[in-house]
Amino acid sequence: LLRLAGGAALTVWVAGCQSEQPPKIADRASRALAIPPLAESRMDAQGRRVFDLTARAGRREFLPGHTTGTWGLNGDYLGPTLRAARGEQVAVNVRNELDEMTTMHWHGMHLPAAADGGPHQPVEPGQTWSPSWRIDQSATTLWYHPHPHGATERHVYRGLAGMFIIDDDLEEAIDLPREYGVDDIPVIVQDKTFDENGQFHEGSNGPTGRLGDTILVNGTVAPFLPVTTKRLRLRLLNASTARIYSFGFADDRRFALIGTDGGLLAAPYQTSRIQLSPAERAELVVSVQPGERVVLRSFPPELGVIPIMARYAGGADSFDVLELRAAASLTGTRTMPDKLVDVLRTAEADATTTRSFRLSGRQINGRPMDMNRIDEVVTSDTTELWEVVNEHQQPHSFHVHGVRFQVTSIGGTTPPPQLAGWKDTVYLPPKVPIRLIMRFGDFTDPTRPYMYHCHLMLHEDHGMMGQFIVTTPGRADPGRQPGPSPL
Ligand code: C2O
Ligand code: CU
Repeated sequence: LLRLAGGAALTVWVAGCQSEQPPKIADRASRALAIPPLAESRMDAQGRRVFDLTARAGRREFLPGHTTGTWGLNGDYLGPTLRAARGEQVAVNVRNELDEMTTMHWHGMHLPAAADGGPHQPVEPGQTWSPSWRIDQSATTLWYHPHPHGATERHVYRGLAGMFIIDDDLEEAIDLPREYGVDDIPVIVQDKTFDENGQFHEGSNGPTGRLGDTILVNGTVAPFLPVTTKRLRLRLLNASTARIYSFGFADDRRFALIGTDGGLLAAPYQTSRIQLSPAERAELVVSVQPGERVVLRSFPPELGVIPIMARYAGGADSFDVLELRAAASLTGTRTMPDKLVDVLRTAEADATTTRSFRLSGRQINGRPMDMNRIDEVVTSDTTELWEVVNEHQQPHSFHVHGVRFQVTSIGGTTPPPQLAGWKDTVYLPPKVPIRLIMRFGDFTDPTRPYMYHCHLMLHEDHGMMGQFIVTTPGRADPGRQPGPSPL
């Protein structure tokens, strides 16, 4: 049992001890961290901000002397950072120059189901898919990745992913580091295994999915980041297919957690660890001294004490992620605002519908994903409470498309501060029921579903996923009956 801040006591199972081979600890950081470029955009005649993303195969030298075959968006590996402000209408031309079908999902985005980019919006080779929507959500760090049913893990693993930053006036009014690539840094963390020819090893998935022995940040192995300011904002994205990280600094210095998946926290939360399962994000601000080197590491998850695989009980799950190299003189300030934004807590009593989701095997509520079955029918403009439980002794997580949610309880206790903000993906410790409250907006579409699923990508591919539609009031909820499919 661990005692958490806020007095909540939790028994949580270790998720990080999932590796067949713990990642290599790089001898020393040896390459400057690549910063994904900000995507270019243009305003079209209708006043929309238009981006172009082209998925294609490429090659990249990750390891000295080896050229690795990759996939990327507008480049060889990963994609540019898209950035748009609340209120803007955006359009993205997603062109597929691969030789197989893919899709592009805007993870965490509040948008109509037709633009969501899930498994029902395939982009065939040679085709371009051009969704458009209005950005209507708080400033935060989102991301995009393919979602073809059964192949998401492979497509993301090969390199199709990128960050999508949302700006708004409230965030802009706060004194925070915000110069992209200078004191506001995307940190996209992934793990890979390279085979003897220096290619991505795609074989032998364990029960949690593909776990690599080499850590990449923004596609850079053993990276360092030159730091020129006293305060540094890191936008952490776990874009790994299965690995769960508990990020902190090698010297255990504290940092300010300022945001989670769906937006800024009410106030900076001073802590020394933040755990992220695949697809989760966190924004933090760390302060550095002139000339010092500070190493971002991953530690065994702090919320867990019981190893799933006993052979990893030895702490092999600590490894370096990114070295920060501070210049001899630093600019700016170290002060932190004591308030960020208003985060109104929704009470469980405000929910008009409660649903429950049991994750076990590779199924949710005893059923594997079926593209032709609608599992849940939700009414627009309603608040719902979803109780989710992982009935396995394996790590799972839960992600809901199209909305953000708040965690109202974890095993009957109040969530710790790092889970008290807006989320769209949450780690599910085995056997601990987690309650999520969410308000569904006004995008209705009786023919196109959104997804909910485990975000360990192998599990998602294997069917640990379900579909819901959002409709106008009055439409009957088929509940658990897989009634006539509108698809
Ligand atoms: Cu990150 Cu269903 O997706
Ligand atoms: Cu899972």
